[in-house]
Amino acid sequence: MNILLLGSGGREHALAWKIAQSPKTGKLFIAPGNAGTALTGINVPVATTDFEALKKFASANEINMVVVGPEDPLVQGIYDFFKNDSELKNIPVIGPSKAGAQLEGSKNFAKSFMMRHQIPTAQYLSVTKDNLDKGITFLETMKSPYVLKVDGLAAGKGVLIINNLPEAKKELNAMLNGSFGKAGETVVIEEFLSGVECSVFVMTDGKSCKILPEAKDYKRIGEGDTGLNTGGMGAVSPVPFADRTFMKKVEERIVIPTIEGLRSESIDYKGFLFLGLINVGGEPLLIEYNCRMGDPETEVVMLRIQSDFVDLLEGVAQGNLQEKALVFDTRSAAAVMLVSGGYPGNCEKGKAITGLESVRGSLLFHAGTTEKDGRILTAGGRVIAVSSYGSDKNEALRQSFQNAEIIRFDGKYYRKDIGYDLK
Ligand code: AMP
Ligand code: GLY
Repeated sequence: MNILLLGSGGREHALAWKIAQSPKTGKLFIAPGNAGTALTGINVPVATTDFEALKKFASANEINMVVVGPEDPLVQGIYDFFKNDSELKNIPVIGPSKAGAQLEGSKNFAKSFMMRHQIPTAQYLSVTKDNLDKGITFLETMKSPYVLKVDGLAAGKGVLIINNLPEAKKELNAMLNGSFGKAGETVVIEEFLSGVECSVFVMTDGKSCKILPEAKDYKRIGEGDTGLNTGGMGAVSPVPFADRTFMKKVEERIVIPTIEGLRSESIDYKGFLFLGLINVGGEPLLIEYNCRMGDPETEVVMLRIQSDFVDLLEGVAQGNLQEKALVFDTRSAAAVMLVSGGYPGNCEKGKAITGLESVRGSLLFHAGTTEKDGRILTAGGRVIAVSSYGSDKNEALRQSFQNAEIIRFDGKYYRKDIGYDLK
């Protein structure tokens, strides 16, 4: 079958790599893709949110399935767009409906959903300009640090963790007065949870689900988890503390109530569900939902799936996921992200990348790259995820770090301590 994959990051290159291995895959198109996906499939110069252009492309190229990488097209309703179009309605879109994508698109919706379905999470209060005084009172009842989250999508920057109360009150005011634009018209104030985080990924056809390998990502730019937040500087799978007992709790307390909750509210959800969890004394609490796979977690999760991934995607689309096999690779996988100098602030782009052909024993998933006159150039903050297998986490990391040295571009930076906090 012909598959159209949407997105242009390391996540999409890893998905493309896995999809291309399936004997079920005919042509694989990636819109818009990057220099790496161009080696795995055919790049199409169409933006992920240009639904009319995607319609034209899908109709003209006998597309049989659309796999959505990033959240934006989902939150904007690509699933509903295909479903409600007479020409497109038979092309399954792997990803939730616009209503389902609200689990990521609105923190307020996500928190009230968790409450309705008794899913363990931090205590919270949602505040708008109209009940700011309640928000201030709520903050006064909380202990430091204070967690403030804008309701809407904010490119990963909409969460502030503030140590002192006057500062938290000031920020709450600023958010409600437009410091994050419309995304901050509602703000969620949350209890601070202390523990180690991990990401759990679920595929669902709306009825049953499969839990994919879990992963831990490293969000801060600096070693020892310091400095600014980034999209993610590396990832490791498996996560040692996410053992059988912990994952059983995740399944019973979070995954199943979520799938059943969506069903009971008649919300169409056929796609990926990403649970951002925190381990508080052995108990999993849900910090956030995302309606897509994680990046760079996908760059390790795909390595750990042995089964035919397109067969699983078909299960999602056709509603028979339960019958599909999901076999994990028992090896460890690690990804180390090479980023441009200056990231996550402004960074220079267009730098020539060399040494790629000398890499041995790792997979290179391109994130921000482009091809020009036969050369591969940097085209974003996150440039390449160097992903490797190992008999354990340390071996996988050693391999990735070794190859991270071989690849060169002006201003290259990567964290040399990915996985440092895991046994
Ligand atoms: P979110 O976008 O909700 O995942 O938040 C981004 C990051 O902020 C999370 O990955 C956590 O590291 C941190 N965070 C969010 N909510 C909390 C909380 N209630 N307690 C502690 N840390 C949090
Ligand atoms: N790595 C976290 C995310 O994709 O949101």
